[in-house]
Amino acid sequence: MKNRILKFSAALAVMLLVSCKNDAQNTGSESVKAEYVGKEIGSEYDAEIDKLVSQMTLEEKIGMLHGNSMFTSGGVKRLGIPELKMADGPLGVREEISRDNWAPAGLTNDFATYYPAGGGLAATWNTEMAYTFGNSVGQEMRARDKDMLLSPAINIVRTPLGGRTYEYMTEDPFLNKKIAVPLIVGLQDNDVMACVKHYAANNQETNRDFVDVQIDERTLREIYLPAFEAAVKEAKAYSIMGAYNKFRGEYLCENDYMLNKILRDEWGFKGVVVSDWAAVHSTVKSLQNGLDIEMGTPKPFNEFFLADKLIAAAKNKEISEAELDKHVKRILRVLFQVKAMGGKERVKGSIATEAHYQDAYKIAAESIVLLKNENNALPLKVDGIKSIAVIGNNATKKNALGGFGAGVKTKREVTPLEGLKNRLPASVKINYAEGYLERYDEKNKGNLGNITSNGPVTIDKLDPAALQAAIEAAKNSDVAIIFAGSNRDYETEASDRRDLKLPFGQEELIQKVLAVNPKTIVVMVAGAPFEIEDISKKTTALVWTWFNGSEGGNALADVLLGKVNPSGKLPWTMPKTLNDSPAHATNSFPGDKAVNYAEGILVGYRWFDTKNIAPLYPFGYGLSYTTFGLEKAKADKESYTTDETISVSVEVKNTGKTDGKEVVQLYASKSDSKVTRAAKELKGFKKVLVKSGGSENVTIKVPVKELAYYDAASKKWVVEPGKYTLKVGNSSRDIKQDIAITIK
Ligand code: BGC
Repeated sequence: MKNRILKFSAALAVMLLVSCKNDAQNTGSESVKAEYVGKEIGSEYDAEIDKLVSQMTLEEKIGMLHGNSMFTSGGVKRLGIPELKMADGPLGVREEISRDNWAPAGLTNDFATYYPAGGGLAATWNTEMAYTFGNSVGQEMRARDKDMLLSPAINIVRTPLGGRTYEYMTEDPFLNKKIAVPLIVGLQDNDVMACVKHYAANNQETNRDFVDVQIDERTLREIYLPAFEAAVKEAKAYSIMGAYNKFRGEYLCENDYMLNKILRDEWGFKGVVVSDWAAVHSTVKSLQNGLDIEMGTPKPFNEFFLADKLIAAAKNKEISEAELDKHVKRILRVLFQVKAMGGKERVKGSIATEAHYQDAYKIAAESIVLLKNENNALPLKVDGIKSIAVIGNNATKKNALGGFGAGVKTKREVTPLEGLKNRLPASVKINYAEGYLERYDEKNKGNLGNITSNGPVTIDKLDPAALQAAIEAAKNSDVAIIFAGSNRDYETEASDRRDLKLPFGQEELIQKVLAVNPKTIVVMVAGAPFEIEDISKKTTALVWTWFNGSEGGNALADVLLGKVNPSGKLPWTMPKTLNDSPAHATNSFPGDKAVNYAEGILVGYRWFDTKNIAPLYPFGYGLSYTTFGLEKAKADKESYTTDETISVSVEVKNTGKTDGKEVVQLYASKSDSKVTRAAKELKGFKKVLVKSGGSENVTIKVPVKELAYYDAASKKWVVEPGKYTLKVGNSSRDIKQDIAITIK
């Protein structure tokens, strides 16, 4: 597959087509150049669009403003306007659903590649992986003849309990935008629209249908909006999904401030705003306040707010025809933009190809985080091993489908056990034991999918026979690997988790297995943090993997066996206990009718680092099988004006015996600020491959305007003059060098 890197040059976006094999990517200097900028929605079809609209009846116009099936909005056949065809979602192109209900359509040509979940993609800290992801999914969308992918999901991880943490990227606004932008550009390079969701402040599942989110203006701008803003201004996303919840008293699909004032007037968004499914609550108001298309869940489609009710409102002159035309034209413009109209040749795409599985593999391989590795327990030295106990339901659990929400129907999902079988020599015997059983209290499992305050209740008592079998397997094997964590039935849209405890009795299982075989490696398969301090102390090796796509098991086996040197870094903080994290420490989750984000700008590591609370594993953290030195970090100058760009160079030395990739992270800090500042804020990063014994020079560019804070009084971004410290390290807590600079 060819990858295209878009580079911004001077005033206009110039497309620079670099075709390179994926394996050649990210070899340091190459990634330094990459900036991703999307294509603006053009105006070349405006006259044709005006003409089309002038020929349309009121009913035809309104037919385009709402769902006419589960995943399409209406077209106008007689004028050659097709339906707008949408598909979920963040894990790859969802299977075809019936037109008027959630039941699978039962097709045989809708198998797709299952890609790593958002948290995994963000854990690569690799912008080229994000482009690859988008580009690969974009190809699959076209092969399924779709126009709009309901992805990426980029809400900030505010609480580790969030049911969609696995789908979202990170707790950090900078990493968020740096991953979101290339993904969107890659996707839209394939003549499909990204529908960036869920705009905005949709950071919990609890009460999501009505909760009124209160965020102060500065926090909104600095934490919750930057990735959406970059999606619009840099990636030129063609659509945005309005969220379920309210923001400052108004539902987000009828929120004048968020949709008209910020999205369109301030950011210049030209695309379409699509509602989340059944997130609309009014007719004239939602349209006037910025919504373009209402989508929803089963009920006769003409009963939607933007269907018969809108026809009646238009006939009663409660809304002008000019207002309707505005929305219809936006939709036509994006249809032309992705060549669903206009007769230009459109990307044909391909689906579930070996090349796409390999894209999923590469992302997965870079996403896996090595959290602990005492005495070089990993990689496993197969030569000395005759048998391995593979323990845990998660060794065989599949996650492409599951829970509530968008999954992928796929022909390939390599589980961890299959991955090991694929990669281990036949001489190594695998002793598999399920260990813990995935069991729910049936009464509460029934709640799955209801917007209740809590997720499913698990049965945490171990089954004695299953426990015994696991202990036997561990005793009788040279090494044991326990696959613990969660799965997509447990971590799911529509409910937040109850706590951060390991479910299904895993804690006890792990302790007991560790007691009989000290050579036990713990692998967590999960999308969100768990309280694993005790386990992390006792085990020699701890690995974190995600709902990691079609090739997840192969990628994991390659990491465990050393074919791949791990290079993933946590995209969020792993707290020791839930109450250490900001939304819980401030007792401001989940709220009731309203939720007030009391921690303000101190989300994620900003809280931990400012309040000096030690996390279990910090944001940005992840080990490698080799060791790195970050040396000679320096800025190109001592002082800068506000429109300059700071260029920080650092030498990355690989001081170990294996080639490996390191993520250089640059945080900014301002001690004598007149406003509250986080102790550190991520302002740049770069992933670089360094050969064993070698070194690479890395340059990180930080436009001075990235150092600004949002001043709510003047409604402006303000770069405070004075001294700043740039901190170079490889996690928010492992800072190797400080650089002092001055802003004039
Ligand atoms: C989710 C969206 C999704 C939509 C359609 C909603 O429940 O919040 O993320 O795209 O359903 O499946």
